[in-house]
Amino acid sequence: MVISEIRTDIETVEKNISLWKEINFASRIAALDFLEFHVIDRLDGLCQQANPPAELLALQQAAEQLKNQLEAIDIALFRRLREAIRQGRCSGAALLHLIDTYVGRCSGGRQAQQQIGYDNLDLFTNSLFDGQTLPQETIEREPQMVHYQKTPARVILDLIERAQFTEKDVFYDLGSGLGQVSLLVHLLSGVTANGVEVEPAYCAYANACAADLNVPNVSFIQADARTANYATGTVFFLYTPFEGQLLQDVLNRLRAESQRRHIRIFTYGPCTRPVSRQSWLTAIGQTGVGNELYKLAHFVSAPVVVGS
Ligand SMILES: C[S@@+](CC[C@H](N)C(=O)[O-])C[C@H]1O[C@@H](n2cnc3c(N)ncnc32)[C@H](O)[C@@H]1O
Repeated sequence: MVISEIRTDIETVEKNISLWKEINFASRIAALDFLEFHVIDRLDGLCQQANPPAELLALQQAAEQLKNQLEAIDIALFRRLREAIRQGRCSGAALLHLIDTYVGRCSGGRQAQQQIGYDNLDLFTNSLFDGQTLPQETIEREPQMVHYQKTPARVILDLIERAQFTEKDVFYDLGSGLGQVSLLVHLLSGVTANGVEVEPAYCAYANACAADLNVPNVSFIQADARTANYATGTVFFLYTPFEGQLLQDVLNRLRAESQRRHIRIFTYGPCTRPVSRQSWLTAIGQTGVGNELYKLAHFVSAPVVVGS
């Protein structure tokens, strides 16, 4: 009974020809999830019994093989996309169109959210950027330094849409982690994009990604955001990289920059609340505080008075 149920599950996936078409990335993710958690996990449990029947072992092998074949489609897809990016054939509108075609912009971009959430768009961007093994942290964080967690990709798309970058802009992701925000912002908008990251291993990883994708206008600076050089920055993004006095110290640095030129700040997550209390910043649209903490917020500094 169990064996025939599992066989039917495997055959259903095998016979779904749409899964074998590269374009159907989202259905493939669902099928791979089903294989992994419904079929293979179940088979692994059953095969752990003493002397499992040969039929079960054969099904286990078939399920693994099917999973590998489906994964191979995505491996080839992302290898090809990375090569197209390297050669400058996949950026701006072309990359956005590709994202729309393969995965859509996904839900929730502009909706109120109480907590962080990832979707298929993140699986797509992870596969696009993560060619290497994730690095181990090498330094001990101070208590007010927040650990690494990536910004959902739909939030980055929202940022790009709302920032309306011009060629005069220079973007900074403060606490840039593995670099995905700056990479995606640059690839989709063309703006020069930097990241400031205190953890050397993350910073090296992000720079290696930028070099691998051949994007010279993206760079990651290994520094504490309290002391980094922001002389060129016009648009800053913070996905709650630090809190308390450390956050205030960095905001004081940005305030000093705003007295030299007009700057814009985008925030995401709990840091939005303290940023919204800065008297030198004005919120554009909804701030994302209250019950919309996990919503992108946008602030601008006052215009600089020439000659003052
Ligand atoms: C919530 S993660 C955001 C990562 C990245 N912005 C993204 O969305 O993919 C916060 C990052 O800030 C970094 N960080 C924490 N304190 C920092 C500091 N004082 N200066 C620079 N980076 C810091 C952490 O190492 C971590 O990678």
